[in-house]
Amino acid sequence: MTGPLLSVQGLTKHFPLKTGQVKAVDGVSFDVAAGETLALVGESGCGKSTTGRMLLRLTDPTAGSIAFDGEDFLGLGRAALRRRRREMQIVFQDPYASLSPRNRVEDIVAEPLDVHGLCESRAARRERVIELLRLVGLDAIHLRRHPFEFSGGQRQRIAIARALAPQPRLIVADEPVSALDVSVQAQVVNLMQDLQEKFGLAYVFISHDLAVVRHIAHRVAVMYLGRLVEIGTTETLFSAPHHPYTQALLSAAPVPDPERKRTRIVLAGDVPSPANVPSGCHFHPRCPVAQAICRESVPALRDVGGGHRAACHFGKPFPIPV
Ligand SMILES: Nc1ncnc2c1ncn2[C@@H]1O[C@H](COP(=O)(O)OP(=O)(O)O)[C@@H](O)[C@H]1O
Ligand SMILES: [Mg+2]
Repeated sequence: MTGPLLSVQGLTKHFPLKTGQVKAVDGVSFDVAAGETLALVGESGCGKSTTGRMLLRLTDPTAGSIAFDGEDFLGLGRAALRRRRREMQIVFQDPYASLSPRNRVEDIVAEPLDVHGLCESRAARRERVIELLRLVGLDAIHLRRHPFEFSGGQRQRIAIARALAPQPRLIVADEPVSALDVSVQAQVVNLMQDLQEKFGLAYVFISHDLAVVRHIAHRVAVMYLGRLVEIGTTETLFSAPHHPYTQALLSAAPVPDPERKRTRIVLAGDVPSPANVPSGCHFHPRCPVAQAICRESVPALRDVGGGHRAACHFGKPFPIPV
């Protein structure tokens, strides 16, 4: 298998309203290679979670295609979908809500093992759960405890152990550290990186925190109002963003070294509602370099060098001091 692990083309989700529709995701295309971390970034409401949920068919797309390991994922029947689902897991933002409060850790972590019938006996199941707990820095003494007995970081470790249980190849992590104390975030991100190396996992890492993304992602995809506006390696995207939206987003992020001043690009107005999106380029009403064509025509995501792609009629590299 030499193609991408995951390939998404024209993925779209329009939620119907009484009048009109919410264009939550509007024709998003990207690939994820085995063992790679692709970050999905963008402001709240731009369609990151909806995209993540569609990747696992937790939400049905309105249009578009998804291939997993070269196989059409959206066309799978029940049995085949079940088998594929073993290979893709999700970790949510809020470990308080995603772990059932009445269950013990043993049963929480074993849930995918039970769903997919992966354990021969109670003893084998327990042994596997202990192994999984150790992988995330917990232990056999935690088996019989309930989620409320753990800190936020430990709960997210439990959620990660559960995701690892069926030996997936892809984990969609939707803001996995956003609800945690900053001091704990790095530990959980480092754990995820260690697990990626150990098991060759691919991550779709959804986040609005650019510092975290810069640390963990191999490539970054920037979304604005349901569309992908730029995608490239973390290195090129952070050092030479092309799209004016990416440039504004990066210019507003905190600088690690305050001595090295950075010009902040302040955007006019707020993000429009996805129930009422602008014509042409969705970003044009707030864009500092917009021209007449931006109102009329949707810019294609075009290569700006070495697989780095941006959807802007006038995009130029814009070196951002780091
Ligand atoms: N089930 C739903 N019904 C209607 N609108 C929805 C639904 N889920 C999400 N949306 C809308 O879709 C847009 C994108 O949401 P979401 O994918 O959660 O964005 P993000 O994760 O980037 O914050 C938002 O405007 C949100 O209100
Ligand atoms: Mg979200």
